[in-house]
Amino acid sequence: MDMKQLEAAADFVRERWPEARVDMAVVCGSGWSSVLDAVEVVDRISYAEIPGLGAPGVVGHTGTLCHVRHAGRDVLVFQGRRHFYEGEGWTPVAVPVFLCLKFGVKELLLTNSAGAIHPDFAPGDLMILTDHINQMGDNPLVGPHHPVFGPRFPDQSTVYAPEAVARLRAAAKQADVRVQEGVYLATRGPVYETPAEVRACRLLGADAVGMSTVPEAMLASAAGIRTGGLSCMTNYAAGILDQPLTHDEVTTTASAAMPRMTALLLAWISGFGFE
Ligand code: HPA
Repeated sequence: MDMKQLEAAADFVRERWPEARVDMAVVCGSGWSSVLDAVEVVDRISYAEIPGLGAPGVVGHTGTLCHVRHAGRDVLVFQGRRHFYEGEGWTPVAVPVFLCLKFGVKELLLTNSAGAIHPDFAPGDLMILTDHINQMGDNPLVGPHHPVFGPRFPDQSTVYAPEAVARLRAAAKQADVRVQEGVYLATRGPVYETPAEVRACRLLGADAVGMSTVPEAMLASAAGIRTGGLSCMTNYAAGILDQPLTHDEVTTTASAAMPRMTALLLAWISGFGFE
């Protein structure tokens, strides 16, 4: 992580939005950005303009940072994310979390699309992350220690804060959206898994598999931000059905689940508060 770039990103956004007072944030993974159709967008900044962030190279990831207002809350919405597999290191992945820190965000929700592994899960299901397994072979905290991201050896017992999980459950109930709960396993990508790898993921204890979220969750939780995670199952993980996986399938299934994803996100924003 290049701390100078992270600081430059924060200075840039703060200069553009000197008045913004946000205490919550959402990172929208594949298919999750539609929430923006239902809220007031106060202003937008293209990722391409933000030092260290840059435009995402993935279809379905727009790359716009939005200052959003909904139900009396001011929210940072990261429409699209940078992935480690894009090959530009950890800085673009870390910028959103660092911006959250600098804006004083108290609660961050990380969303993604994932392949369903748990036998009771099906495409279209939404899952609250209760824990994760890092199979990326790397993590953003490797390297010099930066105390802004917590201690040298951050505890990982509750990366997804129990309060964040509880808030997501409550939001799902309020929005009348059925949700699963489970463990998300992150690979480095960009390849999907082989059927044998999916069987191995299941043996390891994973309920869903994807290529993101874990790095941001590590950084944010280590930095003391209450962190929650939500996955949309966009496909059965490889080998469960006798058919290949495509990114088209991922985006099509996410579009079909969009009304439920939006309802859940809006309920989550409306219910924000520290008890
Ligand atoms: N594997 C990895 N990443 C994914 C998948 C998957 O099956 N679906 C959506 N993102």
